[in-house]
Amino acid sequence: MKQNSCSVDKISDNDQFVSRTTDLFLNIIKESIKKRGKANIALSGGSTPVPIFKKIRTLSSRDINWEMVNIFWVDERCVPPDHPDSNFRDANKLLLNYLPDATYYRIKGEKDPEKAALGYESTLNTVLPKKNGIPGFDLIWLGMGTDGHTASLFPGTNAIQEKYKWVVSVWVEKLNKHRVTITLPVLNNAEKRMIVIKGTEKRKLLNEIRDLREKKYPIQYIYPSSSEDYWIIGE
Ligand code: 6PG
Repeated sequence: MKQNSCSVDKISDNDQFVSRTTDLFLNIIKESIKKRGKANIALSGGSTPVPIFKKIRTLSSRDINWEMVNIFWVDERCVPPDHPDSNFRDANKLLLNYLPDATYYRIKGEKDPEKAALGYESTLNTVLPKKNGIPGFDLIWLGMGTDGHTASLFPGTNAIQEKYKWVVSVWVEKLNKHRVTITLPVLNNAEKRMIVIKGTEKRKLLNEIRDLREKKYPIQYIYPSSSEDYWIIGE
């Protein structure tokens, strides 16, 4: 398995943080289309992507044929697509509405969590090419919570240990909510990944993690992988 390469950009200026992430996102999509005639990408939710989605849409005409782009999500809250907590809702309002030619495959948060997970796993199986026998994304965009979670792999949940299923539903005790999430076999199989993290508390956590020998936080399980990783860390 190709060992993952890793680059780290620590950017204190917010505008530069947004621009760097936007440029990387668009360049990876352009490169994927050039190389493979397609770009299969998975977005994260949360607040960090919001200003970046807004910036991407201002540059979306940057010679990218969005008809060749399939947009997925790494996870979803188990709510309807018009619910304020929905990752799809935010991305749709802030970005997808400006990319009419792109195709998107949302996780159906309005369905029973287990059924939504099975349905999304079937979608990944049907739409994505396989790499190492596992659905292969061209780009996965990951964030991290202040508890070290990524996607909806939260500390103490068994979703982190899932080795076979590609998508699972998970009860997150601390949120008192169900989530649906792509699992590590798929997350660690992407061609490229942007790990986009912003905030003092998260930077402190990354510094703690850097010195850890044991795996204590979910974000630590995204490596080693066969992906080319781009860590973009803002203040
Ligand atoms: C979600 C995201 C999640 C996110 C982190 C960070 O559904 O919330 O997919 O994994 O990346 O929670 O979120 P913030 O950017 O809001 O801190």
